[in-house]
Amino acid sequence: MSIQSENIEKLVQRREKARLGGGEKRIEAQHAKGKKTARERLALLLDPGSFEEFDMFVQHRCTNFGMDQSHPDGDGVVTGCGTIGGRPVYVFAQDFTVNGGSLSKTMSEKIVKVQEMALRNGAPCIGLNDSGGARIQEGIDALAGYGEIFERNILSSGVVPQISCILGPCAGGAVYSPALTDFTLMVKNTSYMFLTGPAVVKSVTGEEVNQEELGGAAVHASKSGVAHFAADSEEQAIATIRELLEYLPQNNLETAPLVESADPINRVDDALNSIVPDNPNKAYDMYAVIKSIVDEGKFLEVHKDFAKNIIVGFARMNGRSVGVVANQPAVLAGVLDINASRKAARFVRFCDAFNIPLVTLVDVPGFLPGTQQEYGAIITNGAKLLYAYGEATVPKVTVTLRKGYGGAHIVMSCKQLRGDINYAWPSAQIAVMGADGAVNVLYAKEMKEDPEKAQAIFDEKKKEYEELFSNPYQAAQKGYIDDVIEPRNTRFRVIRALEQLAGKRQEIPAKKHDNLPL
Ligand code: HXC
Repeated sequence: MSIQSENIEKLVQRREKARLGGGEKRIEAQHAKGKKTARERLALLLDPGSFEEFDMFVQHRCTNFGMDQSHPDGDGVVTGCGTIGGRPVYVFAQDFTVNGGSLSKTMSEKIVKVQEMALRNGAPCIGLNDSGGARIQEGIDALAGYGEIFERNILSSGVVPQISCILGPCAGGAVYSPALTDFTLMVKNTSYMFLTGPAVVKSVTGEEVNQEELGGAAVHASKSGVAHFAADSEEQAIATIRELLEYLPQNNLETAPLVESADPINRVDDALNSIVPDNPNKAYDMYAVIKSIVDEGKFLEVHKDFAKNIIVGFARMNGRSVGVVANQPAVLAGVLDINASRKAARFVRFCDAFNIPLVTLVDVPGFLPGTQQEYGAIITNGAKLLYAYGEATVPKVTVTLRKGYGGAHIVMSCKQLRGDINYAWPSAQIAVMGADGAVNVLYAKEMKEDPEKAQAIFDEKKKEYEELFSNPYQAAQKGYIDDVIEPRNTRFRVIRALEQLAGKRQEIPAKKHDNLPL
């Protein structure tokens, strides 16, 4: 064998060994936990044959606690670039079979390299996390590595989409990298995120809780909102990343790709004309409206199980990617509370950062009253949504279907927050508050003074208020909405509005950065 052939043979062998990570036994253990290896996950994520790996031969530099005895190539993370749907992405996938995927300084250098390449080349950065956290043997070096990663997360925020998929443990400060990214996905029963595990919780607070209840996918997708998606399997989580990217541009200077649709733009849906019940206190399902107006009824919902009184997600209208925000009258009457405000605000800001037009469907009775909400700072949290809509410069098309009461009407992308096109259905009621509440405030004294006539006063004044305000025409007379539209034409009218607004350019005053009410 020539020297060159020998060299090539050595390279092939070294690559083969590196690809095995922690070895067959650890791979088997990984599979036994219902988890895939880093390479298997990347094979599912990327277009076949598109993966270009970097830093396969990087080794850690630690000598403490016997670490000098073992130097696996790659050091527990697989990094590189590839394509999804033909468009470039940068990726890292932690390999739990090597030192539990724990983060060394060299691992952080590999991750930072792809983060910087994603930023420089204007492509999304996707992390597949499966790690025991900071590599304990390295001490402060590992912590410094996290700091480097966090800083790149921050610098990339709003420039390229960043997606974190949690496919195993993610504990301690390590959770802050996913928290700094745009979307976090988790897998039920195999992934966990918490600052401190069950043992520490018990010793500090006495509370007994298992991993799943403390920081499993279901908890973070429904209670904390830390996870945007909770998948049943790794395959489903990874398929969701691919689907999500279809709606996103590569970076903040581009728009999302147009996808031709066979769904006619002038498709009318007569069912919408009767979807709003005659009784204003009766609910209906906002999903039916969303599915009716978007291309082929296709809707990728974000935060499906969190704050269900508001719905957010991506869809297409005439092939154009849009962010949909809609109050859900079927849950808590569609009221805005702390979680709904936080959820929608973050979504609106993401869409604005990445040039995705906003379509807002309004049926909101107001903000949720009470001490729980006030003590939890509904004022500050509600202001987040107000701020997000008010600062957004992407095209904003809003349709008020039924209630648009008080501050909540203003918050939900009204004209005065630089809403571009604001429509209302004939069933819209745009007012300071509902009729009952208004009469009780305005005529409390009269009704108290004359209890016998109280009901008659109430009924008469309620009728008067309803005639005056329980319709869209007061707002239409003043130009606060641009037109009253027939519900069945909503798809066509929204699409036409979006087409008209496609060239929108709007500035905000120059500033270092804003001071969003955090
Ligand atoms: C070094 C680690 C490690 C770590 C796991 N391993 N975590 N090595 N540093 N942080 C090693 C184990 O020693 C073991 O090596 C192998 O990885 C697999 O781990 P197991 O414990 O056998 O696996 P499992 O039973 O599945 O348990 C997984 C685990 C557990 C729950 C993650 O390993 C664990 O609790 N690890 C420590 C978690 C932790 O406290 N990390 C620090 C968090 S604080 P061998 O050779 O025996 O197979 C943090 C700070 C970040 O990260 C701050 C940022 C600002």
